[in-house]
Amino acid sequence: HKLPEITNEPNPTYAPNSPEREKLMQAVEELRSQSPQHVPLIINGKEVKTGNVERQFMPSEHSKVLCTYENAGPEHVEEAIEGALAAKSSWENLPIYDRQAIFLRAADLLSQKYRYKAMAATMLGQGKNIWQAEIDAAAETCDFLRYNVKFSEEVYSSQPAANSRGIWNRVEHRPLEGFVYAVSPFNFTAIGANLATAPALMGNTVVWKPAPAATLSNYVIYQILQEAGLPDGVIQFIPGPAAEITRKIFDHPEFSSLHFTGSTKVFKDLWKEISNNLDKYRGYPRIVGETGGKNFHLLHKSADVTNAVNQSVRAAFEFQGQKCSALSRLYVPDNLWPQFKKEFVEKVNSIKVGNITDPSNFMGPVINKLAFDKITGYIEHARNAPECEIIAGGKYDESTGYFIQPTVVETKDPFTKTMKEEIFGPVVTAYVYPAEDFDGAIELANSTASYGLTGAIFSQDRNAAVYATSKLTHAAGNFYVNDKCTGAVVGQQSFGGARASGTNDKGGSANLLHRFVSPRSIKENF
Ligand code: SER
Repeated sequence: HKLPEITNEPNPTYAPNSPEREKLMQAVEELRSQSPQHVPLIINGKEVKTGNVERQFMPSEHSKVLCTYENAGPEHVEEAIEGALAAKSSWENLPIYDRQAIFLRAADLLSQKYRYKAMAATMLGQGKNIWQAEIDAAAETCDFLRYNVKFSEEVYSSQPAANSRGIWNRVEHRPLEGFVYAVSPFNFTAIGANLATAPALMGNTVVWKPAPAATLSNYVIYQILQEAGLPDGVIQFIPGPAAEITRKIFDHPEFSSLHFTGSTKVFKDLWKEISNNLDKYRGYPRIVGETGGKNFHLLHKSADVTNAVNQSVRAAFEFQGQKCSALSRLYVPDNLWPQFKKEFVEKVNSIKVGNITDPSNFMGPVINKLAFDKITGYIEHARNAPECEIIAGGKYDESTGYFIQPTVVETKDPFTKTMKEEIFGPVVTAYVYPAEDFDGAIELANSTASYGLTGAIFSQDRNAAVYATSKLTHAAGNFYVNDKCTGAVVGQQSFGGARASGTNDKGGSANLLHRFVSPRSIKENF
């Protein structure tokens, strides 16, 4: 079979008075006025009420409840697992093009019919502005759904290189034996979609636990999958308390894989728990995770300063610095620092922060009280550290929403706390290095933090760019030359990093899909 043509989902501009702006803002207003919605569990295609109800708030107006949702208890997790196992055989035996058709159709439904609904839930629930919601809930989600289909062709067509005379060798790309557990984060609606659907596309059945702060947007995606024809039980949607759900899942002998995006600490804890349970399982579970980052921009003395400033503003402060790829370390040579500092501080000071329903706000709120306290704790630490100076921002206000000004710290100590630890908020720390010591700056970029997710070199000198790229081999799984370290596009830059940033199985690639199959080599004598 030949697939329909697959390209990146185009982004409308949402210019003032454009029809798309009007339709979107109408969807936002509707959702806001109809809040709170209610989100059930979906087990075997049926809505399940547990009686244990939680709330998802709007981070721009934290007194407002966006949705109430059912919390799964141990008995619901059990039911979800048994249902997923029961659904497995007919699902894995569907011809691949029938599975592909469901996800392609889901992408079209999202693109044409539910775009504004998914975006509105992402804006109000996760605090994204129009453009951040568009590139996530609309474009990236469509791209994951469609490109995974394309990449699945690559997996299935990967066959042995040779057959001896009278022998026919072939590989059957079976799904894993058992069920997959998907645990997704709040910061990208698209990641939730990918964590659940990538294993499912490859013939697995999945128990999906969305992040509490992304419950509604993830539920919208789930409903789209149902409308697209996803059979009952293939993906079970079970919001609820992470620790209890996970314990129940990891206790099950048919647990076959964890597909995770979230913090490094949680991932390590989960990995240890799986290791402790290893004797319970039929096989060795596949552990696939994308975790933290401490991402950098390194400027060479030849860098185009204005470009580096513009890219740094976007990388550090879009979506309030809550992308795992967000910029949080800047290395600037002393010959460029005066100009860089002036332009950067000016730009940062002009950023408007506030409710995402006002499109003139470049930045919205951080996700919740926990995040607000953690991030402002780092700001206070920097304020009091003798080696640091806050040169922009540093203010915050949680009276109506969790708003934090974009904050720039200048430090004399390249190993200060805010240079090493992941903050996951709108704080970037800059270190000025002697322009002649490019090697020293490369070493700092490489080894200051334990992560290896994203990074960028800014240089107009081609030799210096090549040199930095070759020296920084493992510092970033996504490396950029003269571009910001955020905004990987599915189908163009596969995404993920190693070190403490994850298993680097590369979302948006055939690599990832290979993790969810367990190939069988078949040799036949003629
Ligand atoms: N894929 C996103 C980016 O590159 C982060 O998750 O920014």
